Amino acid sequence: MKRVLVAGGAGFIGSHLCDAIINNGDQVVCLDNLITGSKDNIVHLLDNPRFDYIEFDITNVNILKLIKDKYDKIDEIYDLASPASPVDYILYPIETLTVGSFGAKNLLDLALHYGSRILMASTSEVYGDPLEHPQQEEYWGNVNPIGIRSCYDESKRFMEAITAAYIRKYGLNAKIARIFNTYGPRMRLNDGRVVPNFISQALNNQDITVYGDGSQTRSFCYVSDLVNGLILLMASGLNTPVNLGNPDERSVMDFAKDVVGMLPTKSKIITTALPKDDPQRRKPDITKAKKHLSWSPTIGFKEGMQLTIEYFKKRLR
Ligand SMILES: NC(=O)c1ccc[n+]([C@@H]2O[C@H](COP(=O)([O-])OP(=O)(O)OC[C@H]3O[C@@H](n4cnc5c(N)ncnc54)[C@H](O)[C@@H]3O)[C@@H](O)[C@H]2O)c1
Repeated sequence: MKRVLVAGGAGFIGSHLCDAIINNGDQVVCLDNLITGSKDNIVHLLDNPRFDYIEFDITNVNILKLIKDKYDKIDEIYDLASPASPVDYILYPIETLTVGSFGAKNLLDLALHYGSRILMASTSEVYGDPLEHPQQEEYWGNVNPIGIRSCYDESKRFMEAITAAYIRKYGLNAKIARIFNTYGPRMRLNDGRVVPNFISQALNNQDITVYGDGSQTRSFCYVSDLVNGLILLMASGLNTPVNLGNPDERSVMDFAKDVVGMLPTKSKIITTALPKDDPQRRKPDITKAKKHLSWSPTIGFKEGMQLTIEYFKKRLR
């Protein structure tokens, strides 16, 4: 049985990853400071003897002693800890920068100590407002280093840089997943991301607010597909960044229309100002994940959206 540490395990993606690891018969040590996550996401796991939950901030250097004193071995570490929506990281810019730097370093040191594999959750935001389309892993990005989103983009770029340094200097078996927009149950209704925004506005019969003219594109990956990709990447021999996302690209305006079509709602679609540094196009090139991990998304947009809408309906009841 493997023991797997999941930092950020009480968050949206992290909690689904904890479920998948437990379902595989392994043990989970879930670390989270609940800055953007919630115990509601893992409440069903708390009584499981193969699940330990520790409320802790991974930027605190005492994490090394805490874990070393408690566990003789850790086989794998997933670092998913970070505010992840624009609303969250603009509210917590310093916390976002420190978790991607000090927090990431603490977990890399933990992986060195145990000789464990480690996977860092990076993001398509490292490509910034991309000048190449679709984005391949070789593309270096177009990021404003002092812009409103830079606390997130540069934090993740630092995380990638320090991970690459640990791989080069110590031969650490580390992985970098560049995650593109992911959606599904357990997203927060008010996290400001486009999927919960539109669904909750439609369910509440409020205007659906599209930023700009809605021609900007996003590619949405259902969470179970993403989690499968993370597990395959962890098991792989790859030590260079890998895009994980769904290449099914659609404009934000089309997405708003899709949501209206899927729900009995009186909502009207309206347009508002485009936030600063909002990326115009987002579509992963997943050739590398297909080739090396035999991974590609399996849940179609309609199916994934129905599952997500059902979850939000229950939350709003
Ligand atoms: N959801 C997406 O579309 C997406 C896209 C790209 C990258 N990612 C990355 O995937 C990871 C998970 O994202 P998510 O959407 O599940 O976000 P989330 O906010 O739901 O989950 C992040 C979790 O990390 C925890 N956390 C934050 N700082 C911490 C700290 N210092 N110590 C301990 N725990 C801390 C939060 O409390 C939360 O539970 C993040 O690293 C994010 O950058 C997500």
